[in-house]
Amino acid sequence: MSDPAPKTHNLGALSAELIAKGRQYYVPNYKPREMILDHGKGSIVWDLDGNDYVDLGSGIAVCSLGHQDPDLLAALDTQSRKIWHTSNIFFTEPPIHLAETLIEKSGFAKRVFFCNSGGEANEAAIKLARKFAADKGKTPEQRNIISFNGSFHGRTMATVTLTAQPKYHVGFEPMPGGFLYCDAFNDEAAIEAMVDENTCAIFVEPVQGEGGVVPAKPGFLKHLRALCDKVGALLIIDEIQAGIGRTGSLFAFEQDEVVPDVVTLAKALGGGMPVGAMLVGEKASEVLQVGTHGSTFGGNPVMTAVALAAVTKIAQPEIMKNVAEKGEKLRAALEMLNTQFGLFKEVRGRGLMIGAELVEAHAGKAAEISELSRKHGVLVLVAGPNVVRFLPPLNITDAELSLGLERFAMVLSAYSGSQS
Ligand SMILES: Cc1ncc(COP(=O)(O)O)c(C=O)c1O
Repeated sequence: MSDPAPKTHNLGALSAELIAKGRQYYVPNYKPREMILDHGKGSIVWDLDGNDYVDLGSGIAVCSLGHQDPDLLAALDTQSRKIWHTSNIFFTEPPIHLAETLIEKSGFAKRVFFCNSGGEANEAAIKLARKFAADKGKTPEQRNIISFNGSFHGRTMATVTLTAQPKYHVGFEPMPGGFLYCDAFNDEAAIEAMVDENTCAIFVEPVQGEGGVVPAKPGFLKHLRALCDKVGALLIIDEIQAGIGRTGSLFAFEQDEVVPDVVTLAKALGGGMPVGAMLVGEKASEVLQVGTHGSTFGGNPVMTAVALAAVTKIAQPEIMKNVAEKGEKLRAALEMLNTQFGLFKEVRGRGLMIGAELVEAHAGKAAEISELSRKHGVLVLVAGPNVVRFLPPLNITDAELSLGLERFAMVLSAYSGSQS
């Protein structure tokens, strides 16, 4: 495991056969890498052929306690021996405890709706915002929702429309109506010019993830809060990627000293299980009454038992301390590598949500660097064509991160060599 040397990564016969089948059977909307991941422990994963990789992507910010965390395994084991599914026609214990924990720790929420994914949490928030306005007598034309250029909020029809990146809309028109886009994230004047009495909600990510790891500038969310208050709109903070410890506090909005009306969560919430949630503050907590919304699997007892263990553990001070320390270490190492290779225009982010944007001369090469990284035994992500994205487990050890960085240094060396 501790060998930083470049890997050869030959595919075994079984891997090759499975990959061929996967390519044949799946709807071709993804492009999975040429390997079959088999198991993981901590921040290391292994493929079927025994190659190891330092996981600096956590399954896109999901496995925030790495792989096979003993507390999550215990929670899964205990609940799986009790009851698996009941539907929301009945109460079970784990989602009640999880709701109570999220309400307590969020400091603002009064109620919680559980679902299975980020897209579904944002769908719930869109419906809630529209109904909130409808209940106040607003006509459909007066229920506009505003999101920001570069945002990402999901792939369902409503959430992809909310996602203010035209490339995700192409071919899926007609898009649902009532969504407006502010073309300048972090520009106070631009959003101020758009918000009016026909606005029912503003959706914002505290750190835009898919859009390139772009943090909201200090004071921006507070400005949005004031604008929403002025017109009676809801401030909806999408913490699906940035939440649950990723940026160094359990909720990213805590660092912006702002009180949201709604927060959406998924990804790290379930520690690897598909769990989404919408947290609702007092103002809108009674909007979705019986029959207005639902989800068969939402609040599934097995999933929420694991989520409760994940949230409880991630909220501990030692994990948050690790996020701060390892975030610093990762940033410093990337800056240091940049003095050697000069590939990055900027290294930015918060906590362990870090993006390295490529200089103009290497624009569009993030995917190539990500693929080269895999071949060198380190898994990194991209955020658009120009940003290499790092989302390691929040409990990554010093040894694991050092190994990942040693391998990433080799990646940049190999990449630079191939370009000259
Ligand atoms: C900020 C944000 N919102 C929403 C989503 C959609 O979540 P899901 O893929 O679970 O539907 C994502 C996924 O990347 C995200 O990063």
